[in-house]
Amino acid sequence: MTKILVCVAWPYASGPRHLGHAVSTFIPADVVARYHRMKGDEVLVVGGSDMHGTPVMVKAEEEGVSPSAIANRYHALHTKNIEQLGVKYDLYWNTADPQHKAWVQEIFLALKEKGHVYEAHMVSPYCPTGDHFLPDRYVEGTCPNCGFERARGDQCDNCGHLWDPFDLINPRCRIHGTPPERRETSHFFFRFSAFETPLKGWIADDKDHWRLPVITFTRSWLEEGLKDRPITRDLDWGIDVPVPGYETKRIYVWFEAVMGYLTATKEWYRRAGRPEGWKEFWHDPKARHLYFVGKDNIVFHTLFWPAILMAYDEGLTLPYDVPATQYLNFSGERMSTGRGRGIWLPDLLEQFDPDQLRYYGIATMPETKDTDFEWEDFERRNNNELLAVYGNFVHRALTFADKNFGHQVPPAGFLDAADKAMVRAIEQQWKKVGQNLEFVHLKDALKEAIQLARLGNQYFDQKAPWALLTKDRAACATALHVALRVSRALAILMAPFLPFSSVRLWHALGYDSDVHAMGWDEALQDLPTGQKLRVGKPLFSKIERDVPMSAPTDHFDVRVAQIVDVKEHPNADKLYILQLDLGDERRQIVAGIRNDYTVDQLRGRKIVLLANLEPAKLRGVESRGMLLAAEDRDTVGILLPSPDAETGSQVLGTKGAPLLPFSEFQKYKLQVGPDGTVLFLGKGGETRVTLAVNGVPVRVDKGLPVGTWVH
Ligand code: MF3
Ligand code: ZN
Repeated sequence: MTKILVCVAWPYASGPRHLGHAVSTFIPADVVARYHRMKGDEVLVVGGSDMHGTPVMVKAEEEGVSPSAIANRYHALHTKNIEQLGVKYDLYWNTADPQHKAWVQEIFLALKEKGHVYEAHMVSPYCPTGDHFLPDRYVEGTCPNCGFERARGDQCDNCGHLWDPFDLINPRCRIHGTPPERRETSHFFFRFSAFETPLKGWIADDKDHWRLPVITFTRSWLEEGLKDRPITRDLDWGIDVPVPGYETKRIYVWFEAVMGYLTATKEWYRRAGRPEGWKEFWHDPKARHLYFVGKDNIVFHTLFWPAILMAYDEGLTLPYDVPATQYLNFSGERMSTGRGRGIWLPDLLEQFDPDQLRYYGIATMPETKDTDFEWEDFERRNNNELLAVYGNFVHRALTFADKNFGHQVPPAGFLDAADKAMVRAIEQQWKKVGQNLEFVHLKDALKEAIQLARLGNQYFDQKAPWALLTKDRAACATALHVALRVSRALAILMAPFLPFSSVRLWHALGYDSDVHAMGWDEALQDLPTGQKLRVGKPLFSKIERDVPMSAPTDHFDVRVAQIVDVKEHPNADKLYILQLDLGDERRQIVAGIRNDYTVDQLRGRKIVLLANLEPAKLRGVESRGMLLAAEDRDTVGILLPSPDAETGSQVLGTKGAPLLPFSEFQKYKLQVGPDGTVLFLGKGGETRVTLAVNGVPVRVDKGLPVGTWVH
């Protein structure tokens, strides 16, 4: 029995997570944890929401609410989504918990005591326009390593390199767009450099089981040499620095969040009434600590965190493996929460069976190189593999036995060569799945599990029980018995990957027990003749093209239009009747902006039109579309495309999107963002797209502030 600590990267509570995030953290962690549990290993799964840091602050600023409101909102959403996805933590915690904070401060002071954390002056970027320091994500610039133009002050999202803000080319304030000044400030630093040699020794030792990109990236980092890193920030959101004079500063989010793996283990044991129990995992060099993270988190887990552990206490267990994934790209660009693209988990979980998402996520998992998310691929894998191979096989076996053998498992008689080969294949595939899971090769493991179902289908076809039924009923019974035995094995082999459908299959096979309580090697057992079957619906449903598999923006058709004529509405003193040119068509709309704009201010002007709003009559005049404008208590500002945007250009969504009833439109949120840009936020902040034409953002007229609603 091995001790397995499954450490899942802590998602920022700064917005919904996308599928890519689940595929690099939640899903693989859960598969591995479930497998080891079934094997009888001692498993603990820890993690939680990362409540601090600039991602949460940026989001709060955009919405004009407090960071804690944002953090609490998305912590609740993550908790819900994780449960919907069937991901089982022993403790899903969060870094705003007072107990985490207290332990972090304790570790901070211990490191300071030992001299691994020291105070020094440094020059930090400061925004003179907004009168604030610009930590981490508040600075953007071009990455000196890969040329990515929107790299952040602490890290480039594109290549994963860590930076200091002034390393970036053309740094600028994310909020005000102006170049930062250099200002002196004092901070605590972690003596990272002192751990270069110990880390080199550790990395050189027994890392053959690490994924190639992970070890390569880590080594090249070490080759560059390790610099001491500031671990406090000029911010007011985060964990207090427990040192007098530091009241206006906070501990750097990365320094404390990684400690969460340790503090969450402590918390789990504290709640279990054994406050010293955590040492069983953290002071046992044989315990295997596995860290499930995305590519951009690699060095924090392979170097930074191990260095903190070494510094804190030499007896602490270092990572056994960091099976980080590469990126899951969406139309070639990486899925990112901050930048508003991606396939959002809350949306997906509303539309699909979680096992369909897990299957696709594992089957396309970017284990060693980036992969692309494609809707067609998602559909194909579900319909042609999950459903046609696995679902279909067990359904055939179950329904045939049910119908022809009195709703129960038929008896196995004499086994011929084909029957024996099928039974042997169970054990062979079982072995291959297990071996792959040991090495966290999830994609291959799942392939081998599906292969068993594929062999099952071939066996079924070869046996042709429908023909045997009258010719040789005993042989037919045997074939069905073997097919059901394969189905039983599949329920167990698939349980770590597809926990929900395994439960359904187990039940259909007549078991009342919990498939998740089965031992891994129980997959090899036979099932009892005469057991009553409970055949229900097929395991999986087909994904049809007309099922809305769409991003929220796909419900919109928003285009640039030019006003060619303006008339006052004869029956309403607040309304204008506008004639619009859309490039390839003319439209008439009615707009309620007569108190805010004169006829002359509008004539000839380019505006932003919601073109697929259901037509309506406003005080007897037809309106086909709606002009978008932002409005606070007493000011209305229309949305302005850049003057050189061509009439008819797409601003959001797709041309010809289905008509949208006004009541439906009202469920979506559009808001003024930073710098007078306009953000589309979906129905509840599940997306964040900046309205733009060819990359040039649409702006709001009259300088309406961040957070003003647009409609
Ligand atoms: N919040 C970070 C992210 O989403 C991950 C933190 S992992 C931790 O990228 F170990 F630091 F907690
Ligand atoms: Zn870069």
